[in-house]
Amino acid sequence: MSTTQANKIEIIKAPTTKINEVDFENLNFGSVFTDHLFECDFKNGEWQNPTIKPYAPFMMDPSSRVFHYGQAIFEGMKAYKDDNNDIWLFRPDENIKRFNSSAVRMAMPEVPEQLFTEGLNQLLKLDEAWIKKGLGNTLYIRPFMIATGFGVVANPSDEYKFMIILSPAKAYYSGEVKVLIAEHFSRAANGGIGAAKTAGNYAGQFYPTSLANKEGFQQVIWTDDATHTKLEEAGTMNVFFRINDTLVTAPTSERILDGVTRKSLIDMAKREGIAIEERSVLVSELIEGIKDGSLKEIFGAGTAAVVSPIKGFAYKEEYFELPKIEDSIALQLKEKLTNMQHKLTEDPFGWTVKI
Ligand code: COI
Repeated sequence: MSTTQANKIEIIKAPTTKINEVDFENLNFGSVFTDHLFECDFKNGEWQNPTIKPYAPFMMDPSSRVFHYGQAIFEGMKAYKDDNNDIWLFRPDENIKRFNSSAVRMAMPEVPEQLFTEGLNQLLKLDEAWIKKGLGNTLYIRPFMIATGFGVVANPSDEYKFMIILSPAKAYYSGEVKVLIAEHFSRAANGGIGAAKTAGNYAGQFYPTSLANKEGFQQVIWTDDATHTKLEEAGTMNVFFRINDTLVTAPTSERILDGVTRKSLIDMAKREGIAIEERSVLVSELIEGIKDGSLKEIFGAGTAAVVSPIKGFAYKEEYFELPKIEDSIALQLKEKLTNMQHKLTEDPFGWTVKI
């Protein structure tokens, strides 16, 4: 596949900025977007016309494959600004790698790393005023690709659009998070698309999650589709369990997203000398752990969710509350991670990348 030279990005600047209309202290996650977006089209077997232009709706043919067969993938990343006004990304190579493995799984073309990186970096530089300094302030980055090819025939499109949009963000979950453990519905199955960051994986969770929301739970923790006995991940994040002083999280598989925050927390925990196991966790272990006091914490980990402590979980109509603890590993790891991302402390791993 030939690739467009990434340094030939055309830039069309917005005539005005919307930034003064935004209340940066009261942001609903993912609902405000910056002045510009990046786009590039895949046509005739190559990526063409990389452009940064004003954020705006655009026209598509109603028969575009994405509308009918869901050929759509995305990523979630964040940009941070330090006290010197430098802009930093966190492990962008991991997101680009995962984006392209999602593309392969969904029969879509890969986006060359140089094109992705150049498009993103130039967009961030243009909209840099939208990245606010200070712990907790981030610019959420949503790269995505959709099938734009014409016709409702059920085979892969030959045309695609890759876009990057940016949204200033604070916490994804602002209040307490309570979860419901899935007994019937499944997120993914072996051989399926659970490890790909594809739109349908999220859409498929909306109905069961809305049922959980009605009962006061923010998220569902998915269990394996075959037996519903093993805990896998929640819809917006991977999940960690602290059993006594050991952190346990499900191993990645065809059913589980290989989360960048997940793998970072594993490496950070190892460096801190915290015992960590990647193994299946049984629902029964949680119930026993609550009863005998060995289950100390549950928390989610994801780019949007960062590290989100979970207050309690329900299983088969019974609600179990986690104990209140002084020495939360979730909060320790969250502080270390966010300080590193915001360049307030050293990054011993070399994960932070200045653009
Ligand atoms: C992210 O954490 O970036 C995600 O893509 C999850 C999404 C549901 C907000």
